[in-house]
Amino acid sequence: MTDRYGRTIEYVRISVTDRCDLRCAYCMPKGFKDYREPAGWLTFDEITRLTRILGQNGTRRIRLTGGEPLLRKNLPDLVHRIRHEAGIQDISLSTNAVRLPRFANDLKQAGLSRVNISLDSLHARKIEEICGRNVLDQIIAGIDAACEADLHPVKINMVLMPGVNDTEVDDMFRFCRDRGLMLRMIETMPMGDTARQTGTASLQPVLERLKLEHDLIPVIGELGGGPARYWQTQDARTTIGVITPISQHFCATCNRIRLAVDGTIYLCLGQEERIEMRDLLRAHPEDDEVIVQALQSGIELKPERHNFLETPEKIVRFMSQTGG
Ligand code: GTP
Ligand code: 5AD
Ligand code: SF4
Repeated sequence: MTDRYGRTIEYVRISVTDRCDLRCAYCMPKGFKDYREPAGWLTFDEITRLTRILGQNGTRRIRLTGGEPLLRKNLPDLVHRIRHEAGIQDISLSTNAVRLPRFANDLKQAGLSRVNISLDSLHARKIEEICGRNVLDQIIAGIDAACEADLHPVKINMVLMPGVNDTEVDDMFRFCRDRGLMLRMIETMPMGDTARQTGTASLQPVLERLKLEHDLIPVIGELGGGPARYWQTQDARTTIGVITPISQHFCATCNRIRLAVDGTIYLCLGQEERIEMRDLLRAHPEDDEVIVQALQSGIELKPERHNFLETPEKIVRFMSQTGG
């Protein structure tokens, strides 16, 4: 499936819940209550059917997101069901890792390829400040469980927040290097009112400094399906990535759409265009052609790019409602 700017959609991010056990300031801040009712959530049957149709029409990669995806009951079953769908080559998960010690092995067995884990600080009090709970030890146990279950490469997502965790880049670099993890730093996107809560900083100066200090060279070739750009040390043992939606956006090569838990497909993280799939799936349980038509004509509406900079107040959806 190709949009009107010639971009082929081959990466679908599927949110399996809009709930979370943490309250990270940039995603689902304290006091957040605007949840979708479980009756409106897509069932595993519906997600599997849509994945099959997408796989038959060019989707190669699925990422399970949330909220916190491990709060959805029986998530390994969903992984198991979609891994056999034609065309799907990579199934990955974005998680806060708190529940990974319990689920890492089951997920691996079910066919999950790899995980991306949020970790913004190595200080327990800071984690409590950012995420609303003191879960540093649980996150680290989750990272260890992912490594032990061979869910490699394990990527660590650090959302850079000025005045909050931007002094921790070097510590995070060492922590990841010593454990064979891939550190990815991310510029905060203004979803909901998150930018007001956390601020956003350009990663360019951080990247330039790390490149000089560690003699990093650009990585040629793919290290995932997403928007990160990667650099590595000369011995290729340590790789870092940056995701720069604000200072250097990547919309011209956008290959993805997002399915929210209620069956809405958002065509861009930073725009409102969407396709409503749930009622259509329920009204046409046997007729996949109707679904393909809706996807094809919907993808036509995919915007050229976000406009976080021009109208930062515009996206009132929080990240947890959109699916990471
Ligand atoms: P891989 O490259 O496959 O490992 O995954 P990913 O980087 O696409 O997934 P992840 O869930 O770890 O997302 C990392 C960061 O990239 C998050 O902040 C996402 O919101 C952001 N991101 C992913 N896709 C897009 C996108 O299409 N647009 C924008 N603006 N940000 C994105
Ligand atoms: N801006 C940038 N990244 C965000 N994430 C969540 N909310 C935001 C935001 N407002 C990231 C988290 C998580 C990933 C799925 O999305 O780091 O790891
Ligand atoms: Fe694609 Fe929109 Fe993300 Fe740009 S902001 S990369 S167009 S989803």
